[in-house]
Parts: sequence; structure tokens; C-alpha cells
Amino acid sequence: MKAMVYRGPYKVRVEDKDVPRIEHPRDAVVRVTRAAICGSDLHLYHGMMPDTRIGHTFGHEFVGVVHEVGPAVEHLQVGDRVMVPFNVFCGSCFFCARGLYSNCHNVNPNATAVGGIYGYSHTTGGYDGGQAEFVRVPFADVGPSLIPEWLSEDDATLMTDALATGYFGAAIGDIVEGDVVVVLGAGAVGLFAAKSAWLMGAGRVIVVDHLDERLEKARTFAHAETVNFAEHKDVVVLMKRMTDHLGADVVIDAVGAEADGNLLQHVTSAKLKLQGGSPVALNWAIDGVRKGGTVSVVGAYGPIFSQVKFGDALNKGLTLNMNQTPVKKMWPRLFEHVRNGHLVPSDLVTHRIPLEHIAEAYHLMSAKLDGCIKPLITTDASQGA
Ligand SMILES: NC(=O)c1ccc[n+]([C@@H]2O[C@H](COP(=O)([O-])OP(=O)(O)OC[C@H]3O[C@@H](n4cnc5c(N)ncnc54)[C@H](O)[C@@H]3O)[C@@H](O)[C@H]2O)c1
Ligand SMILES: [Zn+2]
Ligand SMILES: [Zn+2]
Repeated sequence: MKAMVYRGPYKVRVEDKDVPRIEHPRDAVVRVTRAAICGSDLHLYHGMMPDTRIGHTFGHEFVGVVHEVGPAVEHLQVGDRVMVPFNVFCGSCFFCARGLYSNCHNVNPNATAVGGIYGYSHTTGGYDGGQAEFVRVPFADVGPSLIPEWLSEDDATLMTDALATGYFGAAIGDIVEGDVVVVLGAGAVGLFAAKSAWLMGAGRVIVVDHLDERLEKARTFAHAETVNFAEHKDVVVLMKRMTDHLGADVVIDAVGAEADGNLLQHVTSAKLKLQGGSPVALNWAIDGVRKGGTVSVVGAYGPIFSQVKFGDALNKGLTLNMNQTPVKKMWPRLFEHVRNGHLVPSDLVTHRIPLEHIAEAYHLMSAKLDGCIKPLITTDASQGA
């Protein structure tokens, strides 16, 4: 089969690999019909995530058709159309029993922190991902759901990560009626977080980024006020000015460890590797939220230390909520919002690129060229693509 393969920082290509086999009675093999590239894939592509091995296939946002099932799989059949959450999880350990699917204890030898994620390096279990023609899906009765007949494959694909994560980011912001919510980052995750914040009662939503075409999308798609941080000397002072000098009630970090906006942080992380990432957005969140406010972090940070202003968070009495998204936990509510049209996930799809050309898709997404927000990857099994 054809699969995307990592060859080193900024180098990916399509290679022939063996079609994955059933390795455990509870596995399924899914034939991928749509995959996407996520901002998280860029951290791998840029060589920022430890233990990203040559030959690994990325891709944790995908849907497809069940191709084969193991003998212990009860609820899926060959031919079923399925959406697969980005988390690999067992559904029955201490953590899964508490809804912490992204912290499952049974799926990752490094599971002291994160659980399993498809295509996301050996720090999350080393599972090959869905930017391929086929993918092995462990615990097939637990993770995947059948795609309802009213849901398009494009919409379903974005529900396996970007939409679920944006919605989760807003949900763990504990937004109260009338709150001022600032969203840092206008990628797919930030835009969905901004849109979701309204559904949770926000009184104002302000999106911050430095890419004008994404800020335009924040205005038209998420109906938010926008700030281009490159046009302001101090974005934290601006956030204060916009909020009666109090600060926002809730700030959502939808940027993560490769934030721009501070040269020193960039040099000490990406260049010198003195810290695991540049926590510029997270520090802006801590500084820009009001005392007693909530910072929600869905932007991804790796396992290595970075210079976060923890003392200020403590002294301001902040609530910090964060996690990798427990995707399937978000689905029941999201199905309602998508079915009744409050959220249209595919509105953020900007590109549709065949798997053969995935290197070009990574380049577009990484360099943010051609208005790229969410590229979908299609395979020979895609219909209507
Ligand atoms: N927690 C989870 O489960 C989860 C799931 C999906 C994605 N993520 C993470 O969420 C983040 C966003 O994902 P995405 O797909 O939207 O990525 P993306 O790369 O498309 O978007 C990131 C945006 O942040 C902007 N940005 C950079 N520095 C900034 C700053 N200092 N302030 C404000 N904006 C800034 C960029 O210009 C870009 O538009 C990534 O870190 C990704 O790894 C986490
Ligand atoms: Zn992702
Ligand atoms: Zn578990």
C-alpha cells in the first residue's frame, strides 16, 4: 500500500509499505478514505517531538471503511464506514473509566503521561497513522464509531480531531454566560474553539494570530473580533485595554509549542534546543487572563521542559485546564451541533490533495501558503473527492 513516511525534519514522502495485519483479536484494519494534516503533525514534521522515527507514518485525523476485523471484534463489520478518534484507548482502565481516554494506561509503554495517538511518534505508542491507504485500529470496538448516514466524510474527518479539540478547548475554559474569551491561534483548532465559545455563552470572542487570511476567517466563520499580534508592540497590554484593564475571563491557547512572537523563545527552543518549545502563547495567556480567570491549553507541548510563567499563574490564582482531547467523549454533543447546523466542520477545509502528493501538502500547511488551514488527503478509495 501507499503510505506517508517520515524521513527526517522537513522530509516526508510516499512509500510502499505492507498492508497492516490484524495483530490482536480486537484489532481492525481500516481502508482510509479521507485523512487530514493537523497542526500537531507539524511539530513532528519540524523535528520538535522526541522519538519520531524514520519510517513512521503520521496521521491521526482520518475516516475509512472497515477492511478486516479480528476474531474478538463484535460491533464492526467489513464494509462499515467508520470515523476513528485520534486517541488509541482501551476503554476499561482506571483512566478510561473516568473518561480520560487521552490518558489511557494500556496503550503506550510511556503512559505515565499521554496515552496512545495514531501516527504521533513513539512517545505516544508508535502506532502508524492514517495518512496511508490502510491503518491498523486497535480496540476496534472501543474507538471508532459508525459514520451516521447524514454526516459527510469531510465533516466526519474533522470531528476526529480539529473540531473535537476546538470544542474541548472551549469546554475546559469553563465559560460562564457573558465571559470575554480570547483565543490564541487561528488555525483550525483555534477557529473551532472560537465558534464553540459562543455556543457556551461567551459574551465576546477575540481571536489573536498574525496571519491576516486566518484572522479574516475568524471574523467570517467564527464571528470574532480579531487582533494581529504583529501589529502591536505588546499584545498583553492590548488584551488588558480591550477588557477594562482587567484581562480576559478565559484565554484558550490553541497555538502550542511552536509559537511565534518572541525571538528569544524561538532561538532557545527550535534552534538551540534549550527548551522543549517556545511557550509564547501560553505566557501571553497567563499574563492576559484576569486574576482568578481560566487558561485552557489545547495547543500541544511535548514532554520536555519549557519556560512557562508558573509563578504568575499561581499568584494570580488562575485555573489551568489542559489535556490532549478525549475525542470520543465530545462526540455525542458534537453530533447534535453538527446535525442541527450550529457547527459545520468542513467549512475549514481549504485543500484536497491526493496521498501521492502529501509532501506538497505538508509544505503548504507548514509554510501556511495559499490560505491553507486544513488540507484533506485523499486516497484511491475516496469517493467524490
Ligand atoms: N490537545 C489536543 O488534543 C490537540 C489536538 C489537535 C491539535 N492540537 C494542537 O493545537 C495547536 C493548533 O493546531 P492547529 O491545527 O490549529 O495548528 P496550526 O498550525 O494550523 O495553527 C496554529 C496557529 O497559531 C498561530 N500562532 C503562532 N504563534 C502565535 C502566537 N504567539 N499567538 C497567537 N497565534 C499564534 C499561527 O500563525 C497559526 O495560525 C497545535 O499546537 C496542535 O498541536 C492539540
Ligand atoms: Zn491533531
Ligand atoms: Zn484505557
